[in-house]
Amino acid sequence: KEQLIKQAIDILNDNFQEGGFTIPCKGLYPFQWKWDSGFIAIGQAHYDMEKAKTEIATLLDAQWENGFIPHIVFHNESDTYFPGADVHRSDLSPLASKKYKSTGMTQPPVTGFVLEEMYRIAEDKENLLKYIATQIDKVYDNHAYFYTHRDVNNEGLAFIYHNWESGTDNSPIWDDIWKTMNPPDYTFERRDTTHVDASQRPTKREYDHYLNIIEIAKEHNYNDAKIAAHSPFLVLDPLFNAMLIKSNESLINLYRLLGNTGKVAQLEAWQKKSIKGFNDKLWDDTLNAYVHYDLRKDAPIRFVTSSSFSALYAGIPSQERADLLLQTMMGKFGGEELYLCASFDPNSDRFDPKKYWRGPVWINMNWILHNGLKRYGFNDVAQRVKEDSIALIEKNGFFEYFNPIKKVNETENVGYGGNNFSWSAALLIDLLK
Ligand code: DGY
Repeated sequence: KEQLIKQAIDILNDNFQEGGFTIPCKGLYPFQWKWDSGFIAIGQAHYDMEKAKTEIATLLDAQWENGFIPHIVFHNESDTYFPGADVHRSDLSPLASKKYKSTGMTQPPVTGFVLEEMYRIAEDKENLLKYIATQIDKVYDNHAYFYTHRDVNNEGLAFIYHNWESGTDNSPIWDDIWKTMNPPDYTFERRDTTHVDASQRPTKREYDHYLNIIEIAKEHNYNDAKIAAHSPFLVLDPLFNAMLIKSNESLINLYRLLGNTGKVAQLEAWQKKSIKGFNDKLWDDTLNAYVHYDLRKDAPIRFVTSSSFSALYAGIPSQERADLLLQTMMGKFGGEELYLCASFDPNSDRFDPKKYWRGPVWINMNWILHNGLKRYGFNDVAQRVKEDSIALIEKNGFFEYFNPIKKVNETENVGYGGNNFSWSAALLIDLLK
């Protein structure tokens, strides 16, 4: 255990950059990513709180005038990544940060609960509260942005307009949306497949779709109302909204600890509306799980993914629904031949145990599920998720994602994507502490 923690700390320190942020991994992801930074700070908080504070302060420093926080902050030039700052062109938005180049899309809003996790871990709580007081309004402004500009039906749920905003980049969930689009066959040079075997990454055609949505958003200068009207991709994502709801809860707790309660009533109002909206709109009675919702087609996307279970972490389901959710999880994902928790329904013909978000186990999702299961008293399964996460890293190394099939883990290394991957290291530290 001590040895694993030491290795994890070495990886995080090695990926730390002079600009005050940590890259997800060398070569493949050479900038600061929004939700990566959040998970990274949780790990750093255990051994170097100053670094964790810097990580989040640097991210929030890139906030736009309207409260938006971008998914990638391009602190530096790098030719190992595509698509870079020159493709995303945040300068097209009049509201963008003047200080940093960034993307014009976001990622799951984890920062609120990350601040609360840092507080939980902190030994010197007074000192950390002083830091939180300097940052918390920025996170609040980010939530206000979601409720003002991303909730088109006024139901407490924020839309995403790009698969990269979901964090679950090439999930089979999006396959039917791609069928509604017909993007040009763009000419570009991929970089990811020079770092990682192409069989573990999205296809060229998938990248055409990803770039096409960016081009449409750029035509509208990243204006949310226009994106909501014109983006071919417009989805309510259960993971994204569960992270927003969990972060609302954390902001309420932290503002109370600070004795600064002016914004609590607004947060509570958002929270109530979001939890209701989530349960009304995203619950699927036949699948007994939360699912994604396609706002373009005005119809649910009826597949079970690890995102379906993230609602537990945010306390969204009633105990009765949580019991059903657990049954669905164990029935579809929990067989003895599998490590928990595959990212996509292992019984579906769209499941691929090797390919990015089409099936592999991710440590950040396992961390969310572990904490969510504990919240509802599902302690045995929570323990299994933790042990499976540790076993996968011990067997294969600190990879980005892992093959969930136990049998193949016995005979070959089935850690995929980037190696020495920051959030796998950071969250393992938290799981082991
Ligand atoms: C990638 O390049 O695959 C990133 O995950 C996008 O955020």
